[in-house]
Amino acid sequence: MTEAEARGAVVRTEVDPFAVETLNDPEGFDEMIREAGEIVWVERHGFWLTGRYDVAEAVFRDYETFESSAGTGLTNTKRTENWRKPSVILENDPPGHTKYRRIMTSIVSQRVVRRLTEQFQASADALVDRVVAAGEFNAAKDLAEAYPLSVLPDAVGFTPEGRQHLLPYSNLNFQAMGPRNELYESAFEAAQEASAYVNWQMRREALAPDGLGQTIYGYVDEGEISEEDAGMLVRTFLSAGVDTTIFGIQFTLLALLQSPESWAMLRDDPGLARKAFEEGLRWNAPSPFIGRTAARETTIGATRIAEGEKVIMDLAAANRDPRRWDAPDVYDLTRDPTGHLAFGTGIHGCVGQMMARMEATCLLSALARRVDAIELAGEPVRFYSNWLRGFEELPVRVTLR
Ligand code: HEM
Repeated sequence: MTEAEARGAVVRTEVDPFAVETLNDPEGFDEMIREAGEIVWVERHGFWLTGRYDVAEAVFRDYETFESSAGTGLTNTKRTENWRKPSVILENDPPGHTKYRRIMTSIVSQRVVRRLTEQFQASADALVDRVVAAGEFNAAKDLAEAYPLSVLPDAVGFTPEGRQHLLPYSNLNFQAMGPRNELYESAFEAAQEASAYVNWQMRREALAPDGLGQTIYGYVDEGEISEEDAGMLVRTFLSAGVDTTIFGIQFTLLALLQSPESWAMLRDDPGLARKAFEEGLRWNAPSPFIGRTAARETTIGATRIAEGEKVIMDLAAANRDPRRWDAPDVYDLTRDPTGHLAFGTGIHGCVGQMMARMEATCLLSALARRVDAIELAGEPVRFYSNWLRGFEELPVRVTLR
């Protein structure tokens, strides 16, 4: 009998959330978890998982009971050393979290994002012009991946050399949130050089003088944070902001490919690009799992959660909870997706969300202005990750305006 069973009426599952069969049917898994109960014990790895909107929201809000400083993945980083030093913002709690949060909020504020928009739009227009001219292409790589990878590192002030390490590093970061399975092992193997590159690129001397990275180091000069802290905040751009944005754009593109009416709406009014992305994130959260650790014994509904246990929120499931959303499986450009949890919520709610929205809006509006019709030209191929959802291939065919 497991510890969880000994406690009585616990809903359990023996399904492994990280097995290839599950990764091939994420929507089926999400529905199973959400409908099984308010919170489900995942036998295989020993953690709690919820797919209910109201439960996830309550866990996010109660940051004193459900802490981040023991890691937001499966590993309790207070008990087991992780593969890298914990993030000073993501894996931190108040009062420590508050200062870093304030600094990052100013680094990617609305004013900063607005200032970058013109330059980001010009890059999106140029990329889309180049890519759609071919008529057929892999939208997962050629648009969704190529675009954030071209604009974000420039904005932060990374050197042109070494950028091939960004994706392997980011991939390891997210694979490591899950169990130490084959996905983790191969990501770890592939990212050996990447870790050394990132440790170097985080440093003041390696960053361009006019980028967001140097602005972070300005807080060192003002005596607010240490040189090491600044490097850790620079690191969050590439650990939190690259793959998430890429996969978010991919899901929006997939939705538009599967819903010609939605594509027609966007094509006729490219001003809908931001809404198209927002509903895309609700429809399929690219970073579906976010974890917390119980700082003390507590309950969720009738279920007792012991101190030190992991509570993981399945945001993709919550974003399709029929208790919160009408016709949740439908990508609907006329719905108001406000309140979706793809960016989390509460004190750790995504600090880069305005940047992500701006990037996606530039790219999708550029596409809508140039392309008349868009269709799938082959089967999408999934990208397998313990912690994120996205695609290797989204083959598309376009007719230009
Ligand atoms: C579509 C794209 C994105 C998605 C889906 C996403 C998702 C998330 C989620 C779910 C959280 C909450 C984590 C938690 O509660 O533990 C988060 C936090 C965070 N995100 Fe994003 N993110 C995206 C883009 C970005 C970008 C572009 C940046 C950087 C510019 C960024 C930087 C961060 C940081 C630093 C945090 C930690 C905030 C804190 O702990 O206070 N993210 N993100």
